[in-house]
Amino acid sequence: MLTVGEAIRQRRSIRKFLDKPVSRKMIDEILEAARLAPSGSNRQPWRFLVVTDREERAKLRKICWDQAFIEQAPVVFVCCADLMAYSQPSRLKRAQEFIDTKVIETLSGRFADPEFRDALARMPDSDLGLFRAAAVANTYIAIEHMVLTATALGLGSCWVAAIGGEGEINTMFNLPGTLVVAAVLPVGYTDKIPPPRPRISISEILLRPLEAESR
Ligand SMILES: Cc1cc2nc3c(=O)[nH]c(=O)nc-3n(C[C@H](O)[C@H](O)[C@H](O)COP(=O)(O)O)c2cc1C
Repeated sequence: MLTVGEAIRQRRSIRKFLDKPVSRKMIDEILEAARLAPSGSNRQPWRFLVVTDREERAKLRKICWDQAFIEQAPVVFVCCADLMAYSQPSRLKRAQEFIDTKVIETLSGRFADPEFRDALARMPDSDLGLFRAAAVANTYIAIEHMVLTATALGLGSCWVAAIGGEGEINTMFNLPGTLVVAAVLPVGYTDKIPPPRPRISISEILLRPLEAESR
C-alpha cells in the first residue's frame, strides 16, 4: 500500500481500463475507506451501488454522456447522497451517539450548549431538498477516500459527475428521489498511467502570502 502522500501524488484520472476483474477484497477495502470518511455532524449520507454487470455498465455509459471507460471499467460505484440522513429520526440518532460516545465533551462554542444542540436535533423536518448541497459535499469526501484507496491498491479510477439528466440513474436502478446520485466512479486496472495534469501554483491558491517562518 502507498502512503497517503504517495497516493495523492500518483493519482490520475484513468479513462482506459484493462479487461481484468477487481477482487472482492479490494472492493471491500474501497467501500471501507468511504465508510470511514468524516461528515458534518457525522450524518454519513453516502450510499453506494456496486455495478459489475456488463449490461448495467453499458447502460450507465449511455446515461453518463457515452463515456466509454464507464463500460470498460470492471467495477463502477454509483455514489449517492441520502437526504434521509438529514431527517429528524436520523438527526436524533446521531445526536444521541454524540452523547453516548462522549464527543460532546470535546465540543466548544455554540455546539457545547446543550439547548442549542437539542434544538438542532429536534428541529422538525423541513424540505429535505435543503440538505442536498450538504449531502453531496459530504458524499464527495467519501468518494475521494475511495479514489485514493484505489490508487494505493494499484488501481485506477476517474470521477464522473457527467451523470446524465436529473433522475436518469435513479430510474435505471429504481432508486427513490431521496437518493441523489452525486457521482459515478469507475475503477479498474490500467497499463497506462498518464503524466500529471497541470495545476495552478501555491501562490495562486493562497489568498494572501504566507508569513515568513519565525525562528
Ligand atoms: C467532481 C468531478 C467530476 C468529474 N467528472 C468527470 C467526467 O464526467 N468525465 C471525465 O472524464 N472526467 C471527470 N473528472 C476528472 C477531471 O477532469 C480531472 O480530475 C481533472 O482534469 C484533473 O486531472 P487528474 O484527475 O488526472 O489530475 C471529474 C473530476 C471531478 C473531481
